Amino acid sequence: MNQEASSQPILRVSELNVYYGESHILRNVDLGVRPGQMVCLIGRNGVGKTTLLKTIMGVLKPRSGHIVLQGQSIVGLPPDRRAKLGIGYVPQGREIIPRVTVKENLLLGLESGRAGKNKDIPPYIYELFPVLESMLWRMGGDLSGGQQQQLAIARALMGRPQLLVLDEPTEGIQPSIILEIEAAVRKIIETTGISVLLVEQHLHFVRQADWYYAMQKGGIVASGPTEELSKDVIQEFLAV
Ligand SMILES: Nc1ncnc2c1ncn2[C@@H]1O[C@H](COP(=O)(O)OP(=O)(O)OP(=O)(O)O)[C@@H](O)[C@H]1O
Ligand SMILES: [Mg+2]
Repeated sequence: MNQEASSQPILRVSELNVYYGESHILRNVDLGVRPGQMVCLIGRNGVGKTTLLKTIMGVLKPRSGHIVLQGQSIVGLPPDRRAKLGIGYVPQGREIIPRVTVKENLLLGLESGRAGKNKDIPPYIYELFPVLESMLWRMGGDLSGGQQQQLAIARALMGRPQLLVLDEPTEGIQPSIILEIEAAVRKIIETTGISVLLVEQHLHFVRQADWYYAMQKGGIVASGPTEELSKDVIQEFLAV
């Protein structure tokens, strides 16, 4: 295989600047995700992590900069087009629909993504998240926080994304379920080849990633393989 093509990133963000009104939130952000990689964005509260993910998804428009998905510029495209091109997004706070069943929540994932007309739930969804199979007829809002998070990730997978973007999937979730979600995300990468861009605060989960970027005041101030995450970096950027 051609070396250039094989090392082409799934996602490349460069020189991104984003404002809320007159406040300059993201400052010259550069970030990349390679095929099959799990990349974790860390940083303390309010530094701009969610703003970056929303800009990648097209919910927010940057004042300047580039966002390239598999060689194609997506910076001018609306969120639904980006989803169709293969980005699955689980927003902070999950946003599952409380008054419809788990099954309907899952099927809604088909509409936003790249999936075809097939209205079945593929078995690997239940292999990743066994709890969902037993709860298909429950209302989304009756699930626990951890179950809702699993549902939200499963719903994003239903759109058959190439890149899964997760904003703090373990926020407010009990430790044993955090480990389950972590294991499921690892398994998604190992078994499907989907790449993952994740915002996360739990060190154990962060360490599952291949690469980290650390954000401070809207800029990327450190990055590297997670094996090289030093005590200093962890203390500075994670709320541990
Ligand atoms: N809708 C908005 N309008 C104006 N300012 C906003 C808006 N949303 C966020 N901000 C500001 O932008 C900055 C970055 O917020 P953002 O939500 O991206 O941070 P974050 O790193 O995701 O934080 P957290 O860890 O708490 O989720 C913060 O100073 C926040 O107050
Ligand atoms: Mg956030």
